[in-house]
Amino acid sequence: MKIGIIADLHLPKKEFPPRPEPGKRPEPLPDDPVTAKAKVFYEKAKEEKYDFVINLGDLINGTGNGDDDYMTAMMFSRSMISSTVNTYYVLGNHDAMFIPKDLLLHCSQTLGGAYSFLKDGILFIALDANYSCDGKAYEPGFADWTDSYIPEAQREFLKNQLDREDFEKAVILCHHRLDLFMDDLERVNPHVVGNAEEIREILEKSGKVALVLQAHYHSGDETVFNGIRYYTQRAFFKNGAYSVMNIDANGITLEKEEI
Ligand SMILES: [Fe+2]
Repeated sequence: MKIGIIADLHLPKKEFPPRPEPGKRPEPLPDDPVTAKAKVFYEKAKEEKYDFVINLGDLINGTGNGDDDYMTAMMFSRSMISSTVNTYYVLGNHDAMFIPKDLLLHCSQTLGGAYSFLKDGILFIALDANYSCDGKAYEPGFADWTDSYIPEAQREFLKNQLDREDFEKAVILCHHRLDLFMDDLERVNPHVVGNAEEIREILEKSGKVALVLQAHYHSGDETVFNGIRYYTQRAFFKNGAYSVMNIDANGITLEKEEI
């Protein structure tokens, strides 16, 4: 299985050309630099036959106008459809803080943006940490990105998924960091989910989690805790950074690339 990983595109507001004069064809506006690089990435994904793409969140940067931000996200997804490579989205804080969740198709009342899918014996479980520590889901207007949390319903979902018997290894997807990452003053860095320790315990107990894919921390990083690898994808908006994940009988490899 070959999978493309991207994160943190932070797309600017999608601009549209003005309505053309009667009888004239509209002149398309050039793509912003991130969208242009994303098109190159999706062309590659098609040529090199990626099985799918995982987008680890913060697709949009957010303008404060929900309609504009929703349109930016929708137009981006639509313009990548021609590559024919399917994308699994994970919800980032910018997405959740600017786009109402009921407009995001895979979000549910109880699990937010959490979901799972099984491919070739690998169970992928996406988590949604866009909650404040009192368990309330982010909504447009919420501004404290340092307050992130995985609520009880998702913790139960995670345990139930990891109890399944139809998979060999699990890969966890989360926009926010779940590893133990300290800042210069040796405090847990605010890019880490508020109750990450509790989540790590669930992952470690299962014994079947091979990898956690995370984003949000734009420089990227890699750590290993108690046998689980935590791979933080570098932000795409900076250098067109992405990764190619190969999963085969020998295990999981990740290669860093740029556009
Ligand atoms: Fe983020």
